[in-house]
Amino acid sequence: MARRIRTTKNLAKRMDLQYFKKPHPLRRWRHWLSILVPLVAIGWFALQRANSQKIYSSGPLSAAHAVLGKQCNICHVTKLGFFRAAVSDDACAKCHDAPAHHPDKVTHKVSCASCHVEHRASPRLASTDDSSCTQCHANLLTRSGSSQFERVVKDFDKQHPEFAALRPGGTDPGQIKLNHYAHLRPNLAGPSGPVQMDCQDCHRLTAMNSSWPYSIPDSAPKPLPVAGRTDADMRHPRSRDYMSPILYVSQCAGCHVKDLQFDKRFDQAAPHDKPEAVQAFLVQKYSDYFATHPRALSEAVAPERILPGATISVNMNLPLPVPRTRQEWIDQQVMLADRLLFDKGCKLCHVMIEGNGSLPTVTKSSIPSRWFLHAEFSHDSHRLLTCTACHDRTPESRQTADILLPSIASCRSCHEDNGPQHDAASGRCSECHAYHDWIKEQPSKGNFTIPELRAAAFR
Ligand code: HEC
Ligand code: HEC
Ligand code: HEC
Ligand code: HEC
Ligand code: HEC
Ligand code: HEC
Ligand code: HEC
Ligand code: HEC
Ligand code: HEC
Ligand code: HEC
Repeated sequence: MARRIRTTKNLAKRMDLQYFKKPHPLRRWRHWLSILVPLVAIGWFALQRANSQKIYSSGPLSAAHAVLGKQCNICHVTKLGFFRAAVSDDACAKCHDAPAHHPDKVTHKVSCASCHVEHRASPRLASTDDSSCTQCHANLLTRSGSSQFERVVKDFDKQHPEFAALRPGGTDPGQIKLNHYAHLRPNLAGPSGPVQMDCQDCHRLTAMNSSWPYSIPDSAPKPLPVAGRTDADMRHPRSRDYMSPILYVSQCAGCHVKDLQFDKRFDQAAPHDKPEAVQAFLVQKYSDYFATHPRALSEAVAPERILPGATISVNMNLPLPVPRTRQEWIDQQVMLADRLLFDKGCKLCHVMIEGNGSLPTVTKSSIPSRWFLHAEFSHDSHRLLTCTACHDRTPESRQTADILLPSIASCRSCHEDNGPQHDAASGRCSECHAYHDWIKEQPSKGNFTIPELRAAAFR
């Protein structure tokens, strides 16, 4: 059997030295491909660009801005036809006026895009990351050098101060006397028999329109000017966030109208009004009585009308002088009623300031309609809890001065920095705080037509 001899020379001879010069289908393909592929790419790019500018995109827009996704130039101002990734605040200003907070106190300005991070497909752009706040609040500097607020706030879990109202020295400015403990006891004397009061008999969300159980039936409560409204109220209707104001007519009168009764001879109680108005009402009442009761002068004064131990001032000494004229009689009756009301009835709930020979004045009620003016809160979002889960000191409170608000510890049992990842509610600064000073917002006019926003190309 003959053996084939494999020498390198023999092998070399088998090589076709002209191989690369001869045409071959595969090589022809390569040639054409190297021209075609870039062409197709450029064509595709041009086509895509003609349809939209998505091609540059680094991720889907936030839900509210998704409608702008066909017109990148609305935010990305192109320069000489070239796309620029940077976005200036002017671009946002075409549609929004969002005044920054404390512009006169900050040491530097921050751009919209540093807090509102686009292209992350975020369902809510306003739910900003903590770094957008801690860039300043981790070490708060102001132009004047000092701040009335905590200098270091780094996160909610550990580096956030106790709420101001709950720190030592926090006070309740309210001047209406109220004993929560007494009113929440079982078998309280109601207008027609014993009742068990509930928080909702006195406190309800402003949005709740149902009638109050202990109001005077024909009294429509006048809305009070709401003290303590904050800037954020300008932007959001807060009717499901905070409680209705306490009004005598809607929450107290049903049981306490008797404290405004001044004389068994009249069914009608004194009006709940300024002492001057009460006084005018009494003068009218007794003048009418005198006119219709010829024997009034000789009627004896009912003993329950004389307040024992009260500061009997003006020109009165016990025993009561016998009135001789119509005027003397009216003065005496009005004065007795005044004492009964101002020294007893009104004083049940009010701090009265004695007038020097004139009528007393009623200290302003000053019940706060909002407590945390530097934060946001919503009762409606927490309706899964009982009232006393947060306001745990309420059932034992006997003084208006008691602070019944929850401390930061109770919030921390549900709100955590890494919220949803830890099976907890969000602890982001933006969950509880506003940043913009919406009260200064200027109305922004629309700037675009529908085709400018939605047409394919924007050349
Ligand atoms: C609502 C305004 C808005 C629109 C519309 C918009 N962008 Fe952006 N885009 C931004 C902001 C804000 C940034 C961050 C810029 C910065 O940091 O200065 C950004 C950044 C970018 C970047 C840089 C990479 C990054 O993620 O930071 C690219 C690329 C980009 N956008 C592409 C696009 C494309 C393509 C479109 C059109 C489909 C588009 N953008 C539409 C607001 C917008
Ligand atoms: C062409 C107009 C337009 C431009 C430009 C624009 N926006 Fe908006 N933006 C809107 C509209 C419309 C909404 C949705 C309606 C609303 O809530 O006011 C919105 C909503 C928002 C919201 C609230 C919605 C959310 O998800 O929290 C924020 C925050 C916001 N824009 C920030 C910005 C920033 C920052 C820029 C600049 C990078 C910008 N916008 C540019 C039109 C615009
Ligand atoms: C330091 C971070 C920060 C900066 C800077 C910032 N924002 Fe905001 N923005 C927020 C936060 C937090 C909210 C949600 C609370 C609020 O309304 O203040 C918000 C809310 C908004 C909203 C309203 C969202 C809603 O509820 O309807 C708009 C619109 C908006 N910002 C636009 C802008 C524009 C435009 C700029 C630049 C001029 C800007 N923001 C700068 C943090 C910031
Ligand atoms: C550019 C710096 C800067 C940024 C960013 C900033 N703040 Fe402030 N913040 C200040 C200054 C300055 C004050 C005012 C201090 C004073 O009055 O003494 C302040 C005050 C506050 C106050 C107390 C007074 C008030 O307005 O209610 C709160 C709460 C607050 N900031 C929360 C936030 C939150 C939440 C963010 C992020 C969305 C944020 N801040 C972002 C500088 C900043
Ligand atoms: C008889 C009506 C009445 C009932 C019932 C009542 N409250 Fe009040 N509440 C008031 C009045 C009036 C004030 C304002 C005076 C004050 O601050 O005590 C007030 C104030 C408050 C405050 C304000 C904060 C503070 O520190 O003073 C809280 C919180 C509160 N009540 C919670 C409750 C809860 C929770 C219940 C049920 C367990 C309840 N209240 C039942 C009348 C009532
Ligand atoms: C359901 C009936 C009822 C309603 C409604 C009611 N009260 Fe009373 N209140 C009473 C009764 C009964 C007493 C006497 C309780 C006692 O002395 O034990 C009382 C006592 C008081 C006292 C004296 C408390 C004390 O320390 O002894 C004050 C002050 C008072 N109420 C204020 C109010 C105010 C303010 C409202 C409205 C926000 C109100 N009450 C609503 C039934 C009611
Ligand atoms: C059962 C409790 C109660 C009694 C009794 C009572 N008030 Fe009031 N009063 C209130 C409450 C609660 C408010 C705050 C809300 C409102 O205006 O109804 C108030 C508010 C007022 C105000 C407005 C104070 C302000 O903030 O400017 C005046 C004035 C007033 N009362 C006068 C009187 C006079 C005068 C009497 C006696 C004739 C009286 N009240 C008796 C509960 C009472
Ligand atoms: C998650 C805790 C929480 C629960 C549950 C809760 N509150 Fe509050 N409540 C608060 C906080 C925080 C404030 C301070 C809000 C502010 O005024 O800034 C407050 C304030 C109040 C005030 C003062 C007026 C106001 O609106 O600010 C009253 C009254 C009140 N709560 C009653 C109730 C009643 C009644 C319930 C049950 C229906 C209840 N709360 C449930 C946390 C809670
Ligand atoms: C779960 C709600 C919540 C979260 C999350 C939260 N705060 Fe607060 N913060 C509050 C409340 C409530 C107050 C008390 C406001 C008041 O007293 O008017 C407050 C007060 C403040 C104050 C004023 C402190 C002072 O000296 O009185 C600053 C500043 C502040 N927060 C910044 C932040 C920053 C920055 C973050 C994010 C790292 C943050 N907060 C997260 C609820 C929250
Ligand atoms: C039982 C758990 C629980 C407790 C305790 C609790 N929260 Fe919340 N909170 C929630 C849930 C659930 C939501 C709604 C879901 C979300 O936005 O993460 C919420 C939402 C909020 C919001 C956003 C409200 C809105 O609708 O925009 C604020 C502000 C807030 N909480 C503040 C507080 C403060 C301040 C405290 C302490 C006084 C507190 N929470 C205590 C569970 C809790």
